[in-house]
Amino acid sequence: MNHILSDRINNLATSQTLAMAALARELKAQGKDIISLSLGEPDFNTPDFIKEAVKKAVDENYSTYSPVEGYLELREAICRKFKRDNGLDYKPTQIVVSTGAKQSLYNIAQVMLNDGDEVILPAPYWVSYFEIVKLSGGVPVEVPTSVETDFKMTPEQLEAAITPKTKMMWFSSPCNPSGSVYSREELTALAKVLEKHPNIYVVSDEIYEHINFSGTFCSIGSIPGMLDKTITINGVAKAFAMTGYRIGYIGAPEFIAKACTKIQGQVTSGANSVAQRATITAVDADPSVLNHMVQAFHTRRDLVVGLLKEIPGVKINVPEGAFYVFPDVSSFFGKTLKGHEIKDANDVSMYLLAEANVATVTGDAFGNPNCIRFSYATSDDILKEALRRIKEALTA
Ligand SMILES: Cc1ncc(COP(=O)(O)O)c(C=O)c1O
Repeated sequence: MNHILSDRINNLATSQTLAMAALARELKAQGKDIISLSLGEPDFNTPDFIKEAVKKAVDENYSTYSPVEGYLELREAICRKFKRDNGLDYKPTQIVVSTGAKQSLYNIAQVMLNDGDEVILPAPYWVSYFEIVKLSGGVPVEVPTSVETDFKMTPEQLEAAITPKTKMMWFSSPCNPSGSVYSREELTALAKVLEKHPNIYVVSDEIYEHINFSGTFCSIGSIPGMLDKTITINGVAKAFAMTGYRIGYIGAPEFIAKACTKIQGQVTSGANSVAQRATITAVDADPSVLNHMVQAFHTRRDLVVGLLKEIPGVKINVPEGAFYVFPDVSSFFGKTLKGHEIKDANDVSMYLLAEANVATVTGDAFGNPNCIRFSYATSDDILKEALRRIKEALTA
């Protein structure tokens, strides 16, 4: 029946992270002892002080439509957060609150891209960037990086990828899937290239900002000359363990914020009213309230990196943020393990599902065909067992 559906949807790839999670759930339902490390979701509960804010909002009857761009009190709180954490000066008229950072990204693509406009994506990138850009008529231009360079794009690579059709550059730091964090010096060097191309806009996805073990964080918008060309994306899903609340937001030049409000007004209207009220409490909180979660992710990062380093043939960077590892498994390509022919990263991922009962995601989905991604947002015991199984399967 696909011929009845639009070309738009037929040309859209299914999210491979969600597809793998669904497959793992199906196998679990069949009674298999699957460890699912495919999804990017904190395993913590939403902090109590935010839950209290949710209850208060319900009791205060925040049950009607909110302004399309988000409550003014929330946009003011987001401005305070941008100033406090990122040194970014935004006015409430430059903020748009959406149904998750995913919608923020989709809005941006819809309002910025014409057919054929090129968007530079340092690879690996978050899965949805590629499809959102394509869905909006844009042309994703992948810039490959590798484990040897901590999966970071160099200024030379950026310069070489720019053409007269380049409209934007999208990236995340800390990066999903590689965990790489760009330093101020590295971002300054990229900004220097962009200085020569004033018509190129940058999407800086900072949703993992607080899950960062490097000790420093830099928003590219805080580099002199960049604020007017940067759309800063953030949200509460990851840091505040609020994935289901679905609140993301942008800080952007006012004309872009207005355009996002315009499209959102025709598609979803304002984001969930109760979740917005709770987000005021979240973004106003001192980031130190997140220390226990960040510390736990840090310990797990060390655990997982240590165990992966023990597996011959696996190459990894040391992720400085987020909660994923992105090991390069290309040394297994061309081998046969326990009767399974391994041609590519997808085969490695499917092999680990079949033989180790561990669900990971192929790096292809993130624009890197040599790697697989898995999340370490789960308990130390589960991670130890998963890594034991992976090691046994890969040293077969
Ligand atoms: C890099 C990145 N950006 C955006 C999102 C989407 O966030 P939200 O849940 O707020 O839509 C995710 C979620 O996995 C992500 O990893």
